[in-house]
Amino acid sequence: MTRLLHVSASPRGAASDPLTLAGAFLDAHQAVHPGVYVSHLDLHDGTLPAFGRLHAGAKMAVTRGGQPSPEQTGAWDEARAVFDRFVTADAYLFSVPMWNSGVPYVLKQWIDIITQPGWVFGFTPAEGYTGLLTGKKAAVVYTSGVYSPGAPPAFGVDFHASYLNDWLRFAGFTDVTEIRFQPTELTATPDQDRAAAVARAADAGKPSSPQEAAPCPRTARIPPAARPRPASCRRPPAAGRPRSARPKRLPRLLTRTPVARSPTVSANEGAPWRRNPATPAPPTPARPVRPGQRPPLMARAPWCTALDTGERRCLLGLMRKMLRSRGGR
Ligand SMILES: Cc1cc2nc3c(=O)[nH]c(=O)nc-3n(C[C@H](O)[C@H](O)[C@H](O)COP(=O)(O)O)c2cc1C
Repeated sequence: MTRLLHVSASPRGAASDPLTLAGAFLDAHQAVHPGVYVSHLDLHDGTLPAFGRLHAGAKMAVTRGGQPSPEQTGAWDEARAVFDRFVTADAYLFSVPMWNSGVPYVLKQWIDIITQPGWVFGFTPAEGYTGLLTGKKAAVVYTSGVYSPGAPPAFGVDFHASYLNDWLRFAGFTDVTEIRFQPTELTATPDQDRAAAVARAADAGKPSSPQEAAPCPRTARIPPAARPRPASCRRPPAAGRPRSARPKRLPRLLTRTPVARSPTVSANEGAPWRRNPATPAPPTPARPVRPGQRPPLMARAPWCTALDTGERRCLLGLMRKMLRSRGGR
């Protein structure tokens, strides 16, 4: 089952250009993939928590290898719930208007909440940052009233697409489709331009190849060699130094940080996963967890469910070796 999360950073509803384009993308996508579940995360709906003293303190504690203090735990769980809402999807659509050359502040706030060590990225002094959100796809609708790529600086500068594209790369996305409608205002033919942009968005919503239309095989019980994996499901090759030159020990922050979960569900919990407006909502993947009950594997360890059986065995073997070398069993 594929889940597509639409993250929207415009507050203008039906009047919004990026939301109109996102609608065209989704309609085309769902016509080709009727089984895809779509959920809408409206960053302007007022449910996004602040990221303040306690959240930032917890982040620094975790970055230094510790744990959030008892005072910080609630704030950290709150951030984790927002991240969980995000990470349960397999594919993403962002609709992002340019605001004062950058992204709307709610999108930056959301990025500040979810971009945490062990969740979105790992870090080692030798290799720098590593994005942990691999094997996922994103499409982004970028619009601006005056700015357009190649325009002189008097018409604005792009800290908008350049910022979000870089965050997606940082987080581990390698498959990103851009849909631009720029400029929306400074044009003699706004209606024509809008219609052309809507058509481009609809085109981008359709798979460009049968390979792309195939779902990523995750749990099929067939030997890996006999299992064709679409290119979009494959891990990108590790960049940088050759394998032999990399540090032998697993760096601390490359492992996902185990977090004590609160029984809350994430921000925007009211937005269900829907197949299309005519069908009822399926069971939501991020179910509320009752006190004392363990959350499902997908919520506890989403990276683990993204591994196939061979990869899980390999990871377990590696962990056992590490424990043995430290005197454990
Ligand atoms: C608060 C605000 C700031 C904006 N800043 C810029 C800007 O710096 N450069 C630009 O070209 N357009 C700017 N615009 C225009 C929007 O980027 C453009 O009209 C966009 O398509 C609006 O999306 P919407 O229809 O969802 O509101 C701004 C619009 C708003 C509301």
